Amino acid sequence: MAITTPKYISELEPYQGGRPIKEVSRELGIPAGKIVKLASNENPLGVSPKVKSVIDASVNEIHRYPDGNGYYLKLAISKKFSLKPEQIILGNGSNDILELAARTVLSPGDEVIYSKHAFAVYEIVTKAIGAVGKKAIPEDNFGHNLNEFLKLISKKTKLIFIANPNNPTGNLIEKSKLLNFLSKVPKNILVVLDEAYDEYLSDDCKSQAFNWLSEYKNLMISRSFSKAHGLAGLRIGYGVGDERLINLINRVRQPFNVNYIAQVAAIESLRDDEFIKKSRSMNDEGKKQLEQVFREQKIQFIPSYGNFISFNLEDESKSMMYYQHLLKNGIIVRPISNYELPSFLRVSIGLRNENDAFIKHIRSFK
Ligand SMILES: Cc1ncc(COP(=O)(O)O)c(C=O)c1O
Repeated sequence: MAITTPKYISELEPYQGGRPIKEVSRELGIPAGKIVKLASNENPLGVSPKVKSVIDASVNEIHRYPDGNGYYLKLAISKKFSLKPEQIILGNGSNDILELAARTVLSPGDEVIYSKHAFAVYEIVTKAIGAVGKKAIPEDNFGHNLNEFLKLISKKTKLIFIANPNNPTGNLIEKSKLLNFLSKVPKNILVVLDEAYDEYLSDDCKSQAFNWLSEYKNLMISRSFSKAHGLAGLRIGYGVGDERLINLINRVRQPFNVNYIAQVAAIESLRDDEFIKKSRSMNDEGKKQLEQVFREQKIQFIPSYGNFISFNLEDESKSMMYYQHLLKNGIIVRPISNYELPSFLRVSIGLRNENDAFIKHIRSFK
């Protein structure tokens, strides 16, 4: 007899990531060193040299289990952001945090609200539990429309996901709008504010949501070390919320969900503000470089607060032609039809020479 699964599992679409360099190299016969990957919003600078040296040294410890409670990393996060360690949960990437939050609060049939063009994982973690996703109609600029979120709230709503800045659209929600929204959401609904790209924001735009936690016990903030910190391959992120909520989420996670190397690397990375500053200014420069070519080519794009830009090529077939043309020339970008934006592609901002390669082949498209 065949194995059976709930219908909500067999109907799930797996997450589609950016294509790995080696896979494209094998398939197209292009040497891996000649391929430019601008498809997963990684930090093109790599990791800070200081972090690299602690990673090298940490290899001697990997025969031991890591500290399942991540004591020193929680301490480092709590000191940096004036939080209590008990308010923090560590995750195998912030993806883990999103999933743990969903598994902690949802039962089959419950409702979860997210924006129509929001990060794909919200839908996956919702459906994997048999809960029901409700997609809020976006603003005209594709960003989150929080009034539409409020309209979707029902007795069954248990969870709301908000990405700020959002991926793949790059929009940022103003603080006053977020606060107004939080004041209107019933307190039994968990609001997860996903701030994976916060480090890329200028000082005046940076999140202040940690300061809102004392008033909003139903708020949880997730952060990632995969983006500006350059640790995507180590898988590490964290969530911050009310101690009682964090205590509940802590019961659901794997005992050793964050590996040792990731923990020591993250501690060191939190100390290296210079590297984050450098990553941000390089990103700002690259963003200007790419925006300029989109304007020159009369390609519509969504102004982005992240380390990526989504741009509109009018229809799906043209966007696939651009995608294939770039790929053939060794440049991997990301189609985003799974985000209901089939005429768009998303490009991550790279090093100057990587952006130059992208620009050259955008210009050479016929
Ligand atoms: C908005 C957003 N949240 C969360 C993540 C998950 O990142 P990670 O699990 O690597 O921390 C991503 C990754 O692309 C993202 O774009």
